Order: sequence, then C-alpha cells, then structure tokens
Amino acid sequence: MKKDTIILGIETSCDETAASIVKNGTEIVSNVVASQIESHKRFGGVVPEIASRHHVEQITIVLEEALQEADMGWDQIDAITVTEGPGLVGALLVGVNAAKALAFAKQKPLVGVHHIAGHIYANRLEKEFTFPLLALIVSGGHTELVLMKEHGSYELIGETRDDAAGEAYDKVARMLDLPYPGGPHIDRLAAIGEETIAFPRAWLEDGSYDFSFSGLKSAVINKIHNAKQRGETLKPEDIAASFQASVVDVLTTKTLRAAKEFNVKQVIVAGGVAANKGLRAGLQAKFSETDIPLLIPPLKLCTDNAAMIAAAGTIAYEQGRRSGLDLNANPSLLLK
Ligand code: KG4
Ligand code: ZN
Repeated sequence: MKKDTIILGIETSCDETAASIVKNGTEIVSNVVASQIESHKRFGGVVPEIASRHHVEQITIVLEEALQEADMGWDQIDAITVTEGPGLVGALLVGVNAAKALAFAKQKPLVGVHHIAGHIYANRLEKEFTFPLLALIVSGGHTELVLMKEHGSYELIGETRDDAAGEAYDKVARMLDLPYPGGPHIDRLAAIGEETIAFPRAWLEDGSYDFSFSGLKSAVINKIHNAKQRGETLKPEDIAASFQASVVDVLTTKTLRAAKEFNVKQVIVAGGVAANKGLRAGLQAKFSETDIPLLIPPLKLCTDNAAMIAAAGTIAYEQGRRSGLDLNANPSLLLK
C-alpha cells in the first residue's frame, strides 16, 4: 500500500496568516486561518506594513495550532510548502522565511507554491480533477482563465488588462461608503436591488479571453457623481445589482465560450470573488445547459487559506519540484 503524503502549507501573501496540513493533496487534516481584516478595515484596504507585522506576530502560533489540530508531529510531515508569490513582498517574506527556517531545522524538503495554483487546487479538496479543465480565477489581485491539461501544468488563456474583479468590487464598494473588503457587501446589496442602470460590458476584441474592469468602475463612479450633482438619489442596492450584473455577464460568458472552445471536461472557479452569490448562480445557470461539470469550492476555501497551498504543493512535491534554502518571495511570480 502506498504511504500517505502529508504536506504542511503556509500562506502569508496578503492579509491572512494561515497554516494547514493536507493528506494526499485531497484531504484537509487541519486548516488554521488568522485573518487581519479588522486591522485593515479602518484604512479601507490592506496596509502592507501592518500586514507584515501581523504575520510576524501570528505565524508561529498558527503553525503550532495547525500541528495540534492535526494531532501530528514533525516526523509525520513529508514536506513544507509555502506561497512564494505573487502578493505583498513584506507579507510573503514572513511565510517564506518561516518555511525555510523549518525546512532547515526539521530537515524537510521545501517547495515554493504559486498563490493562484493554490486557489485552483482548493477545488481538489472537494473533488478530483478531470483534464483538460478550465479554471476561472477571480480574486482581489487576479482575474484569469487558466487551461490545465494535466496536474501542475497551467496555460494562461486570458487575464485582466487592468483591475482585478475583486479590486473593482472593493473600489465600487468604497464609492458607496461600504466597509472593506467591499465584495461581500456589494453581493448582499445586489441581491435586494434591481438592475436599473445599463453599465457597459467590456467584451474586448473578437475572440479575446482577456478582461477589463476599469471602464466599468469609471462608469459606476461617473454615474454616482452625476446623480449627486443633479441632486438625484440612486439606490445603492440598484447600483450594486447593476454593477454585479455587468461583472457576472462578462465572466460567465467568457468562461462558457472558453470551456466549449477547449473542449474541457471540468470547469472550476477559484479566488475570493468565487464566494459571490451572483457569480455562482450565473455560472450554474449557464453550465446547467451544457454537460460540462462545474465545480465551485465552499466559501471557506474560496478566500485565502493554507490548505489550498498544501494541496497545490502536494502535486509539485510529487512531481519532484524542490526549492532551495535560497527561496525568495517573488511579488510578481508567473504561473507556470
Ligand atoms: O482570494 P482573496 O481572498 O484574496 C486575494 O488573493 O486577492 O480575494 C479577496 C477578494 C476581495 O476583493 C473581496 O472583496 C472579494 O475577494 N470577495 C468578494 C466576495 N467575497 C470576497 N467579491 C464579491 N462577492 C463576494 N461575496
Ligand atoms: Zn488569494
């Protein structure tokens, strides 16, 4: 019988300090996430220096908890995997240095993981992958369509040319005086509002799988300013519903078109914006008319966590990928 592969994952790329232990890349043994959202809220966004400081304070506690929750000792851990990028450099460095120190002290293999590979592999903690698959990644920093023909292989077929989807959500939320992070608030308002405003959809050139959200964001801002100048009141819930309708329309239409063109056997959704109810419903509606299975992870696996890093790290480890003790944080690491 094949021995289980037990992998420790560490994630500190943005505002969550997280550690997790995953068995065979598919089963969560422990999953600890310390969120800093409360500390960043009053600034309306993530403050990099504050993020790094919190990571330093939290990392050893979170790591200890991950081992305790799993009821495991270091002798059971096969490798240490860590987000090496992309993300905030000062935040990434805390996780990378913790991972390197542990790899050296405990004499374990070290594997650097791409944050987006992590978001993709969060889905494998729910269901086994079938290739080729298409992944739609929608987070605070990313909006990408990635084609995977096998484990650990990533082909970028479309990406945002300006703002990420989550970034657009957060900026529009700010215009509506909603707290950070704004995505969930817009989502909540959109559910009770009506699509009364026809905001633009950026389809870009024929056949392109790229995205652009800055025009939509500007259209929302202009609409709010113009209404204020004329003394009109726009219902925030209607702005939210109209903005969300535009985002969901473009994301779901391009994902479906790509899924058909590349003849994929599975479509998966990843990243913080995958928690969006409008997007989940929109994708479900579109894919229910096809025979392509759609997989959307549960809410707690959509936002940043370390189980997803351990899951992606397991594949990298099994494929023989190793990082040296000179591993560095890379804020603009490419997915490959
Ligand atoms: O993946 P994630 O936790 O961090 C990054 O790697 O960026 O994503 C965070 C983003 C934020 O922009 C947040 O507003 C957005 O995900 N988000 C949502 C929802 N929940 C989180 N956006 C829209 N609707 C939601 N329900
Ligand atoms: Zn993320």
